[in-house]
Amino acid sequence: MSTAISEFESIAPAMDERELLELERKYCSWGDTVHYLDPPKFFERAEGHYLYDREGTPYLDLQMWYSAASFGYGNQRLNDVLKDQIDKLPQLACQYLHSEKVELAAAIGRLNESKFGLEGRVHFNVGGAQAIEDSLKIVRNSTGKNLVFAFMGGYHGRTLGASAITSSYRYRRRFGHFADRAHFVPFPYCFRCPYGKKRETCELYCVDQFAKNFDTEYNSFWDAKAGESEFAAFYAEPIQATGGYVIPPREYFPALKKILDERNILLVDDEIQMGFYRAGKFWAMENFDVEPDIIVFGKALTNGLNPLSGLWAREELISPEVFPPGSTHSTFSSNPLGTAVGLEAVRMMEEENYEEITRRKGAYFLAQIRELQQRYPKVIGDTDGMGMALRIEICGEDGFEPDRELTDKMFAEGMKGDLDARGRRTGLVLDVGGYYKNVFTLAPCFDMTEAEIDIGVELFEQLIRRCAPERT
Ligand SMILES: Cc1ncc(COP(=O)(O)O)c(C=O)c1O
Repeated sequence: MSTAISEFESIAPAMDERELLELERKYCSWGDTVHYLDPPKFFERAEGHYLYDREGTPYLDLQMWYSAASFGYGNQRLNDVLKDQIDKLPQLACQYLHSEKVELAAAIGRLNESKFGLEGRVHFNVGGAQAIEDSLKIVRNSTGKNLVFAFMGGYHGRTLGASAITSSYRYRRRFGHFADRAHFVPFPYCFRCPYGKKRETCELYCVDQFAKNFDTEYNSFWDAKAGESEFAAFYAEPIQATGGYVIPPREYFPALKKILDERNILLVDDEIQMGFYRAGKFWAMENFDVEPDIIVFGKALTNGLNPLSGLWAREELISPEVFPPGSTHSTFSSNPLGTAVGLEAVRMMEEENYEEITRRKGAYFLAQIRELQQRYPKVIGDTDGMGMALRIEICGEDGFEPDRELTDKMFAEGMKGDLDARGRRTGLVLDVGGYYKNVFTLAPCFDMTEAEIDIGVELFEQLIRRCAPERT
């Protein structure tokens, strides 16, 4: 007993930042974070769209936990539900049922029935990558095939199976081969077209190139005699998230889906980052009028309050006859805290007109950053947005060459916490993505007002002026 108490004493009380950093250096794996900043930044408190450091300095957050906290830190309605659930039914083994799980599955199932006219079921897990793993099992189980397509620049998570369908070799290099690596297909990243075309004249050349792979058996994808493809599914983010919030042309996915349907290949829609109105619709894929066969989701479903992820699959892929009880599950999969918050979040999304909110505010934000691009053409090469998913691509003086160095500098400058928000000392929290790590991927809080968006843009401009004064 006395040993236990003294062990506890040795880890308390709260320490100053220098001591904590020493402990972090010695005891924390650096593998579970990115360690972009040296030293990494501590935060103490979060509210609305601000993070507060240990000195109480506010940091305007334009990435909202990679879009997991879209509805604002400390969202009262969702927090209250979490607190109630802690007092009511905080824990329950997933072999038993609780109403929140069933109601949440039904809410998502009904929503998809109304959107796509398709019946289906919902399967829960915790964390996006785990839900991707579950979807891979559903694909393999229903098609009897292992091979899938995925996009270059796509990101589906860091578990072994999810890394195998994520294009970066960097994420796989040190871990050997463990699952079938996807065949990676160029994404329609029109600002840097992989085929060197221009959007105005390309006539979706990239889709034609994909289609050509099925022309003859010698292209390796298709057995014309059997009328069968070797590939079971295509994994796609409707808007590439980690890839730099890259928005495809409107016509791209319908054209791709047509080919997939002709070849009996499933479309798995990864909505983990773009789902739940980030891109102006409940599912981002709705922007492209395409019906996916499987939808994978996570992050903002609980506003990041309690890990919960899941997938929806068409009935014929997931009915108990084909995907029987115990096919794949986890202790925490449909946990009562997550499903309670998820259910409330979905109710909130049904009650509030988030489509109008995110489209209106996103359009306002995009207009502001486009204006910034016009004023700083030697810094910003491209801007784009759909709903409240926005991108600012930082480039060299020619407006095209990716400028990763300047991007890193601006990111670090925002973290100093000494920008001027109309007289208030403030920091700016940004997230860097993109193929060349030169894109600020903005996922602002849905509650931001236009006046607050103005402040965010002013702070961003201060970063430009501080970090690239010679190019302003
Ligand atoms: C599109 C997409 N898929 C999958 C994942 C993996 O989710 P998680 O980090 O919860 O495992 C992410 C995370 O950023 C993502 O953005």
